Amino acid sequence: MEPLLQVKGLSVSFTTDEAAFRAVDDVSFQVSVGEIVGLVGESGCGKSVTALSVLRLIPSPPGKIESGQILFKGEDLLKVDVSRMQNLRGKEISMIFQEPMSALSPLHRIGNQLVEAISLHRALSKKEAWNLAESYLKKVSLPDAGQKMFAYPYQLSGGMQQRVMIAMALLLEPDLVIADEPTTALDVTVQAQIFELLQKMRKEHTAVFLITHDMGVIWEMCDRVIVMYAARVVEEARRDTLFQSPAHPYTQGLLASSPKPVRNKTRLKAIPGQVPSPIHYLPGCRFRDRCAHAHGRCEREIPEWVDLGDGHRAACFLLSRG
Ligand SMILES: Nc1ncnc2c1ncn2[C@@H]1O[C@H](COP(=O)(O)OP(=O)(O)OP(=O)(O)O)[C@@H](O)[C@H]1O
Ligand SMILES: [Mg+2]
Repeated sequence: MEPLLQVKGLSVSFTTDEAAFRAVDDVSFQVSVGEIVGLVGESGCGKSVTALSVLRLIPSPPGKIESGQILFKGEDLLKVDVSRMQNLRGKEISMIFQEPMSALSPLHRIGNQLVEAISLHRALSKKEAWNLAESYLKKVSLPDAGQKMFAYPYQLSGGMQQRVMIAMALLLEPDLVIADEPTTALDVTVQAQIFELLQKMRKEHTAVFLITHDMGVIWEMCDRVIVMYAARVVEEARRDTLFQSPAHPYTQGLLASSPKPVRNKTRLKAIPGQVPSPIHYLPGCRFRDRCAHAHGRCEREIPEWVDLGDGHRAACFLLSRG
């Protein structure tokens, strides 16, 4: 499959009054045309920072993209000028933010905001743009879509705001949608409808980079999965491979602690310990204090990547022991 997005060696740091740390450390992955790729990992591991970096939306200061390449259709987005970036956002790559109000203006009616987003990129009449916007509010299952076009965001519930933002991200039919926990605020029936909509768009060649901490969502939606722990990617595989033969102890722990889709009678097992803060990342393998298999080498060296075939790779010394 043709690569649409290639992230290579991305590192992002933050410098605050208290500390300086890397929130994303040497992260590489790719998303192909029409593919749904999941990014999973516990809270604070750098998922949102990775996503925001692709659209160059990291606040600077305190953030800084230290190194790496973000190739979109072969063009390095870290090198293009601001006007190219603005032109690309929404039209070619759109983002569903974890926090809906980061995409919506509290001061303008929903309909006007959606029409404005359309008009920036498409030569449609006001009436056509209005109708297009309303049709997308219906697609995201917003009740009374026609009336909601006249509402202000604060008049909607959090779940409804989320759906408006999803409509905004989808209505220009971008090549890539970056969806950061897109359905966390939604109830399960609406969540299923949104996922159906994303699947439908994928059939029309929209790729989706889907961030979630929910293995059930990964199972339902994704072709491939990237697992992050403590700012680094630790495993990558096709979905079925990841669920059948997870190679990294962290991935194994995530699966063992997930109620879905493994609905058997064994009890859920939490991963012991806690996710470290970036200022306390351990040298060597960052997962070793929570890992039952850790040994001397894990303390001293960063585990190298081991290629397990068919696009499956994991960074753990267990796999490279000779
Ligand atoms: N603007 C910022 N200033 C300082 N630190 C930040 C900023 N944004 C993110 N961070 C830090 O970077 C690290 C990674 O954060 P990120 O938001 O990417 O986590 P996440 O994996 O998306 O977590 P969650 O599942 O909770 O959304 C965290 O330690 C976070 O505190
Ligand atoms: Mg996040």
